[in-house]
Amino acid sequence: MSIVLKEISKSYDGRTVLNNLNLEINQGEYHVLLGPSGGGKTTTLSVMAGLTEQDSGSVSISGRNVSNLSPGERKIGFVFQDHALFPHLTVFDNVAYGLRVRRIKGHEMTGKVEYYLSKVSIEKEKDKFPHQLSGGQKQRVALARALVIEPEILLMDEPMSSLDAITKEKVRDELKSIQQEIGVTTVYVTHDQDEAAFLGDRVSVLNNGRVEQIESPSELFYHPKTEFVARFVGIKNILKVSPVGINNHEATVQINNDGIEHPIRIRVKKYPIFEKRKTIDLCIHPEKVMLKREDQTSDSNMNRIRGKIVKRTNNGNGVMAIVDIGGTTLHAAISSDLKVHENVWVCFALDAAHPLCGKKCRAAETKRRCLKE
Ligand SMILES: Nc1ncnc2c1ncn2[C@@H]1O[C@H](COP(=O)(O)OP(=O)(O)OP(=O)(O)O)[C@@H](O)[C@H]1O
Ligand SMILES: [Mg+2]
Repeated sequence: MSIVLKEISKSYDGRTVLNNLNLEINQGEYHVLLGPSGGGKTTTLSVMAGLTEQDSGSVSISGRNVSNLSPGERKIGFVFQDHALFPHLTVFDNVAYGLRVRRIKGHEMTGKVEYYLSKVSIEKEKDKFPHQLSGGQKQRVALARALVIEPEILLMDEPMSSLDAITKEKVRDELKSIQQEIGVTTVYVTHDQDEAAFLGDRVSVLNNGRVEQIESPSELFYHPKTEFVARFVGIKNILKVSPVGINNHEATVQINNDGIEHPIRIRVKKYPIFEKRKTIDLCIHPEKVMLKREDQTSDSNMNRIRGKIVKRTNNGNGVMAIVDIGGTTLHAAISSDLKVHENVWVCFALDAAHPLCGKKCRAAETKRRCLKE
């Protein structure tokens, strides 16, 4: 089932939450919605499900306008952000509820409930009541309850936010295989980029009640269109630059930094946008920035700049360093024992920098390489 939201607007007490939002989700797609807290993600899901009525615009499912249909008529499974389990029903009965409403009974009902309880590894708790469960267990019950009716569309609102890292990975793998097995069109809200990249066929980023960019994960993470999207997907290095020389394949750009007497220049792969704009935002992924004590290489494809380490952090995934290059800072993923205040060579390849303008201004070779990443 495909879902099309067309020019959806919604305000609460005069405050616009969704602002002419357009979104098309393909049949069978696993679609991830990313966006800041309060950005309208839950409202978007709720409008799709018919639980919230939009002020204007339409919702279509498989080409049919369902704006006037009740939630029950839309064949949608919903995993709510706050679980919304029935407090007076056991885990088993919570999951069985949707089947009973559809008059599925006996062995068929029991078999389905037990199958989905085990899919989300909660079968041992089936006789407990919601108040006897942990937050993560409640989330898994909510997941089983949405899946058991084998919906045509599955909407999930941060369904794994209170799971520990190991359970999250397990449930995430299960979710992906269940989704592929039953081919259900899925819309999934998360703040977690790893989850978005692992689960999403495409990801859309919401900002100010609109979809700011909609893309496959690799496109979104490597070619964000705007600074908002770039920052949201965790790209920390965004350099404001001005082109000062352009040849056939590369450009020399100057890092705009008012306080500096001799602005730093770097060489980057040429993009059409360099000929159109005076100021460009360039993003460079931290893992593409190398810091070295000594650098004797003379690889013409590399930029080499002097810098000084100002901070080291360990975030569990690895060590990051913040390095000052003449008043501008860059984040770099490092593996060596470099220390704070050390002078280093900051090295990155000419093609490590991408302008923040999405794929419209992409160089053809970059696109081919990006698809392989
Ligand atoms: N029923 C309501 N009445 C009034 N305001 C509401 C209502 N529901 C949502 N809002 C407001 O709409 C805005 C968007 O809320 P929404 O729940 O859609 O955000 P969200 O992107 O899901 O955020 P989060 O990531 O924190 O869950 C918020 O400012 C919220 O306060
Ligand atoms: Mg929400």
